[in-house]
Amino acid sequence: MKNKKKYKIDSNISKARTLHSDYYTDDLIFFNSINNIFSSSWQLVGHQEEFKSNNIIPINILPDEPLILTKDESGIHCISNACTHRGHLVCNRKMNSKSMVCRYHGRSFHLDGKFKNAIGFEGVKNFPSDSDSLSRVQIKEWQKFIFVSLENKVDISNILYDIETRLESFPFNEIKYSDELSKAYTINAHWALYCENYLEGFHVPFVHKGLSKEINNETYDTILFDNGVLQTANSKNNGEKSYAHYYWIFPNIMLNFYDWGLSINIIEPISKHKTKVRFLSYLIDDNHSTRNAINDLNTVELEDQEVVTSVQNGIKSSLYSDGRYSKVNEKGVHYFHTLLSNFIK
Ligand code: FES
Ligand SMILES: [Fe+2]
Repeated sequence: MKNKKKYKIDSNISKARTLHSDYYTDDLIFFNSINNIFSSSWQLVGHQEEFKSNNIIPINILPDEPLILTKDESGIHCISNACTHRGHLVCNRKMNSKSMVCRYHGRSFHLDGKFKNAIGFEGVKNFPSDSDSLSRVQIKEWQKFIFVSLENKVDISNILYDIETRLESFPFNEIKYSDELSKAYTINAHWALYCENYLEGFHVPFVHKGLSKEINNETYDTILFDNGVLQTANSKNNGEKSYAHYYWIFPNIMLNFYDWGLSINIIEPISKHKTKVRFLSYLIDDNHSTRNAINDLNTVELEDQEVVTSVQNGIKSSLYSDGRYSKVNEKGVHYFHTLLSNFIK
């Protein structure tokens, strides 16, 4: 209750103060918030194209949840990767098979997680039962992307619907993942600092000199959805043409739509001062100008990392606790902080 009060964000942005800096430095707050937020929400874990070469794909989502994506005649499934016998991981690499066998003591499972067979369990009462099958996790397939959720408590349907309608001509069926043009960074900062920087264009003219030449800052707009934020801006040199649609889905998914394709950022907390950021590039067409555009994104990314790690150092100061929001420029950050504070128990 004490924490709930301490981290409460006033719903009126013109009165509100930003999230207290202890949020980013307190171990218990970090541990509890990761557990609550990441089990409640949806995580983007893959794309249907990945099943072209394998039908069994191990994945990991926070907090410490090893899972498996599988595909059989009935569709795509997400199941626990912890064997129902004594917890060995059922599967540790992508593969193609009609069933899965745990290599510890040979128990086997169907692709939908149902128990198939176990050697050496003769005479064991009420065996097998439902609890000998692998638990199933909820799955959402959207435009060929795969989301999973342990608890499904965060509704993202409005923001997904907005993407489909606002960007109705975006060629979701044609985009191709490029491993070569995708990368991952480890950043020395709290994951929420990375997200809140993303959620405002306020810093663009100060931090991104190159990008500032490309976008018309006057047209920068921020729209709030349930558990999501859209930021848009038009090109500076190209009339009314949109430069990008930056969609953020609570808590850690960023879908950036450009004329060349889609750049996805997945923000993964490692510790309270370490975060992994995965950049996944989905191209409409792999050509010279697409490669140039992705190169420019890398420059912007490094500029962002520099300010975010500087904030990480500043929030540790005993002389700093919180600040005020710019009413016109920081609606997205205010909304993000409100969502974070709602998850504090
Ligand atoms: S832990 Fe899987 S068969 Fe024993
Ligand atoms: Fe930025």
